[in-house]
Amino acid sequence: MHTPFMNMTFCVRTFGCQMNKHDSERIAGMLEGLGGLMVDTVEEADILIYMTCCVREAADTRLYGQVASLKNIPVRSGSPLSKRIVAVGGCIGQRDGDELTKKLPHLDVVFGTHNLASLPHLLQAAIEEGGHQVEVLDASSSFPTELPTSREHSWAAWLPITIGCNNFCTYCIVPYVRGREKSRPIEDIVVEAERYVAAGVKEITLLGQNVNSYGRDLYGSPRFAQILKALDETGVERLRFATSHPKDLSDEVIAQFGSLRSLMPALHLPAQSGSDRILQLMNRRYTSAHYRQLVSKLRDACPDIALSTDIIVGFPGETEKDFMDTARLVDEIGYHQVFTFIYSKREGTPAASMEDNTPHEVIQKRFDRLVDIVQAHAFEKNQLDLGATIPVLVEGSSKRDELLIAGKSPKNQTVHAPVPAGKTPEQLAGSIVNVRINEAKTWYLAGDIVE
Ligand code: 5AD
Ligand code: SF4
Repeated sequence: MHTPFMNMTFCVRTFGCQMNKHDSERIAGMLEGLGGLMVDTVEEADILIYMTCCVREAADTRLYGQVASLKNIPVRSGSPLSKRIVAVGGCIGQRDGDELTKKLPHLDVVFGTHNLASLPHLLQAAIEEGGHQVEVLDASSSFPTELPTSREHSWAAWLPITIGCNNFCTYCIVPYVRGREKSRPIEDIVVEAERYVAAGVKEITLLGQNVNSYGRDLYGSPRFAQILKALDETGVERLRFATSHPKDLSDEVIAQFGSLRSLMPALHLPAQSGSDRILQLMNRRYTSAHYRQLVSKLRDACPDIALSTDIIVGFPGETEKDFMDTARLVDEIGYHQVFTFIYSKREGTPAASMEDNTPHEVIQKRFDRLVDIVQAHAFEKNQLDLGATIPVLVEGSSKRDELLIAGKSPKNQTVHAPVPAGKTPEQLAGSIVNVRINEAKTWYLAGDIVE
């Protein structure tokens, strides 16, 4: 076996979305296959890899801070390398390429979102030849062939079905750093899913920037609903997907929420705004009325469905009226969970050149008002499950208390319960237990495991 990373340790630090987390699992799988040993801390790592995100400015700033502070951390004793090798990949790698080595001169490797498979040879070149090793391609010509994966949990798997995005929402950098949308052939997806199910995976989460537009670039234009049906037939226990663009969510998929055995009753459907004027400026290509209609169809098909969303506050030119339209939408729909973001200007996107003169304090106040609405609904929604007995996929012990297990309900709520006598959370991890709910808070449910 070719093992260039024998006796070397590596650590992958991941920022951003599930796609990045999944790419990190592929990196771990590749390096482990080449003899490397994964470690948790920077101090122990001979090779340090950052998988970066540039969707908002905060993630950019964090990367620079972290990489700059590395200079003070010596290489571990016993390391076969005289100096730690530092690599940056993901969206910042793709966006900045060579420039990054000017800003951060002690970086060894920069790789883009299309160059995951090249990472081992870039690292090897950095170790053997030194200098800056940079590979940032504009696009991959087809869906990247399968790379090994080292999954974080043995019972859950992420499965990318599309990469890239064609939507060009005016605030968003993703289409520029992830390229045009490419779909993976249906047969490949099914084969990978079957392999996971055979290996004991209970939950599969399909990934794409907009899974709803799956297949438009493939021969015969297979539809996303066909993937859901085919994966249900693999016998997987729980099926989820992220993310959905409201303009492409079909009636066929909506109906599946009421009929497919394995499809969990939870949907993340980013609204971004409740103002039609702002939605148009964002190039979202739906109206708030269309969004409301989707929600009503979803609730008809699956009355218990838990909805979550993303909202951007402070898009350029957002007025008090626009914000109130958003607040009203969020209040009316009543989400289980809302990810709220303050607009962050991204150079190169159309919104970056739109007039933007709302003072930051005004935007911050709107944001805080929205968060109050969001939390009130999250609390209220969770109350509905008081007294219910819910199947919970156990993830391990709770961060709050080691004597509690933590897991996920079908609606994707976090559920806590005391560890039963004679068991450990680790033993239960990956199994589905029934929990009778006796406490409902804003961020979690709690109860007792019942037979
Ligand atoms: N500023 C703030 N939030 C953004 N998002 C994407 N781009 C920006 C930006 N420039 C948010 C959107 C998207 C989520 C992943 O990140 O709400 O759905
Ligand atoms: Fe960005 Fe819009 Fe594509 Fe989502 S759909 S990744 S928000 S451009």
